[in-house]
Amino acid sequence: MPDELRSHAWFSAEGVNGFAHRSWMKNGGVPHRMFDGRPVIGICNTWSELTPCNAHLRGVADAVKRGVYEAGGFPVEFPVMSLGETIIRPTSMLFRNLVSMDVEESIRGNPLDGVVLLCGCDKTTPALLMGAASCDLPTLVVSGGPMLTGRFRGRPVGSGTTVFAMAEDVRAGRMSQDDFLAAEACMSRSAGHCNTMGTASTMASLVEALGMGLPDNAAIPAADSRRLVLAQDAGRRAVEMVREDLRISRILTRQAFENAIVVNAAIGGSTNAVVHLLALAGRIGVPLELDDFDRLGHALPLLVDLMPSGRFLMEDFFYAGGIPAVIRALGDRIHREALTVTGRTIGAETADSPCWNPEVIRGLDAPVKERAGIAVLRGNLAPGGAVIKPSAATPALLKHRGRAVVFESVEDLAARVDDPDLDIDESCVMVLKGAGPRGYPGMPEVGNLPLPRRLLARGVTDMVRISDARMSGTAYGTVVLHTAPEAAVGGPLALVRDGDFVELDVEARRLHLDVPDAELTRRAGDWRPPAPAAAGGYQRLYVDHVLQADQGADLDFLVGCRGADVPRDNH
Ligand code: FES
Repeated sequence: MPDELRSHAWFSAEGVNGFAHRSWMKNGGVPHRMFDGRPVIGICNTWSELTPCNAHLRGVADAVKRGVYEAGGFPVEFPVMSLGETIIRPTSMLFRNLVSMDVEESIRGNPLDGVVLLCGCDKTTPALLMGAASCDLPTLVVSGGPMLTGRFRGRPVGSGTTVFAMAEDVRAGRMSQDDFLAAEACMSRSAGHCNTMGTASTMASLVEALGMGLPDNAAIPAADSRRLVLAQDAGRRAVEMVREDLRISRILTRQAFENAIVVNAAIGGSTNAVVHLLALAGRIGVPLELDDFDRLGHALPLLVDLMPSGRFLMEDFFYAGGIPAVIRALGDRIHREALTVTGRTIGAETADSPCWNPEVIRGLDAPVKERAGIAVLRGNLAPGGAVIKPSAATPALLKHRGRAVVFESVEDLAARVDDPDLDIDESCVMVLKGAGPRGYPGMPEVGNLPLPRRLLARGVTDMVRISDARMSGTAYGTVVLHTAPEAAVGGPLALVRDGDFVELDVEARRLHLDVPDAELTRRAGDWRPPAPAAAGGYQRLYVDHVLQADQGADLDFLVGCRGADVPRDNH
């Protein structure tokens, strides 16, 4: 136990301040003994009916509270802004950093000794982790868990992945609108977040790989009673972590981030993990670079056969053994001595974690795919780097030279992609500008550009697509993302014109615009920056301070750990 708990500064105070700190808390029926020096555990909740993936988290919070009481702590639940990926406009990523500020200031400004972070939908996990990392209290994550598998006419419906495929079938005339509507009701069968290895499942998996969650945090379905048992155990453990002074900075080490990169490759995780881990590392002060993802992850095989890279869904993954089985299967590719929130090493936690279904979780000797990690591309089109997920791409397109068909914005794309007169065929490279952190603003998930209806009808299923955008973790295709610097700040992407030739060579890690340097210099001289994408409010703060994708797209003034000290009282 640290010499003095942080909460003592509030609840042990004398005079008017102590009276105020305790008395108003008592209006909820809190007995005086709760202020006797027991650890105060904040439960940071992203519950919201506008975030359907997290709409069950009030019940999860109740389970955490039971665990906190069991261990002799005092739980206090507080809300922070929530981000519903499917609802919020213009894109949830715009607000990830805002939520992280909300979390950071809520933790620092209140009498908390430790924190349990309740998250689920995509951005809620990195946002809460980033905010907590900037405070450095004992911290533990409880994810909301994935939805149960839904079926449409007997076949599983993967959140996002199946929807993207069906949407293309509708555009190509292979599926009726009525059937599309019927499938909509089948997919979302229960509480929980996306049931594919999309960004939510990826980030929940990386919570385990980072050591920030209890074993099985990622895969227990939201509707499974064991999710509540895990939450109650997490509440207990949070109290113990305060007594052990086990702070987040002792867990989020360089080794932990390397473990997360390795696990992300093995599970076929989302490309969004790149920007989120870079931003989180920046908060806690761990040196991590874009190239680390390629260096540590590219040669790793895909061990998990889940959509969008494979066949199964998160419920199958749970029954097969989940993340503990994957970590065990990865053997010495994992830093097994890395510490976790349990107080034990990740190696000790997973040493006896069997795989119950080798079809879903493979061994290193029989992977789903070889060399499945995220590849980092560079070249004159992406001097700051760009990423591609080879496991979700068409192998024949991983080396490709094609004529660029350029869209200046998402509006331009929507207006022209299905134009029968658009000069495009399947050998072309679709290029989208203006969808980066500053340009959109907020770097939306539009990087998997829809293919032209005319080509879909001819049976084309994939094309090379390049942008400064992100892509949903549930999506797939030969899609180059996060191109940096982005077009809106004058990156080379801004200089691409219709008819230029672009060369993609994933094996060589090359993304090249085949235009002479002198011509590119001339175009750069003619380039004029677009008007700021936001006139005022938070969006203006964002566009003025957001970093590029290769630095995690955090706000420049939020990088770093500022600790939890607040020496001045409020009266
Ligand atoms: Fe919330 Fe996919 S929409 S996790």
